[in-house]
Amino acid sequence: MTTTPVAVSAEQRSREEQLIERVVRSFDTCSDPRLTELMVGLVRHVHAYIREVRLTEEEWNRAIGFLTRCGHITDDKRQEFILLSDVLGASMQTIAVNNEAYGDATEATVFGPFFVEGSPPVPIGGDISNGAAGEPCWVEGTVSDTDGNPVAEALIEVWEADADGRYDVQYDDDRTAARGRLRTDGRGRYSFWAITPTPYPIPHDGPVGRLLQAVGRSPMRASHLHFRVSHRGCRTLVTHIFVRGDELLGSDSVFGVRDSLVKDFVQHPAGTPTPDGRQIDGTWSKARFDIVLAPARG
Ligand code: BEZ
Ligand code: FE
Repeated sequence: MTTTPVAVSAEQRSREEQLIERVVRSFDTCSDPRLTELMVGLVRHVHAYIREVRLTEEEWNRAIGFLTRCGHITDDKRQEFILLSDVLGASMQTIAVNNEAYGDATEATVFGPFFVEGSPPVPIGGDISNGAAGEPCWVEGTVSDTDGNPVAEALIEVWEADADGRYDVQYDDDRTAARGRLRTDGRGRYSFWAITPTPYPIPHDGPVGRLLQAVGRSPMRASHLHFRVSHRGCRTLVTHIFVRGDELLGSDSVFGVRDSLVKDFVQHPAGTPTPDGRQIDGTWSKARFDIVLAPARG
């Protein structure tokens, strides 16, 4: 839906346009060309928005109140401005711009707030769940470059929410669970046990949650498993895999879903032999994710 421009008199248009040019010229003193470009672009777009929607002073005050509440709830653990950027699709657009399509390189998606540097090392075939509740899930695949060569010793960091929809950093104690890191073998292969991803809501007890509610949007994220994959000479990939058939794929609250990242998580009945012979009492699932890394930028 686009707004029909409101007809204003020539005098009114001239006042509005002169103001924009005065503000734009105020950056002439800036000696940093990139900062000038960013500020001038921002001013032009903000003014265009105000003029297009004919923003009322009451609406402007409410917007300032909203941003103030975002600031008040933000601390070392809670970043409401990133959440705002996420639900507006701005995070995803920035990722799209900065991870340009390259051959068959795997697509990137949102980082999210729950990554932790220095997650526990696990061997190939190891288990990252560390007691997190959920159905066991065997994940396997390869890492290769865009010429099809396997990438040995690539660092794979993975993290996910438990079956109750919580990341370990949201637990009341400081347990580490459902995250880990491993390296590909000499042929670029990897595998690990995780838990089958389930849907969960982004933090929605703050101003961003109330905004979603006001516009009738759900805070739920489609079920996913996060990956960060890095190797010297390759562009670091931050991505997730999603579960084919998940009914939230079309309404992910942060617009992170890419068709190429939707994978089969094949369910196996209790008693079915597992890939590594591990004994599991109940059901388990299996997913494959072959990762292709683009070359690092010049
Ligand atoms: C996540 O996937 O962990 C996430 C992404 C964006 C906002 C909140 C959570
Ligand atoms: Fe997540």
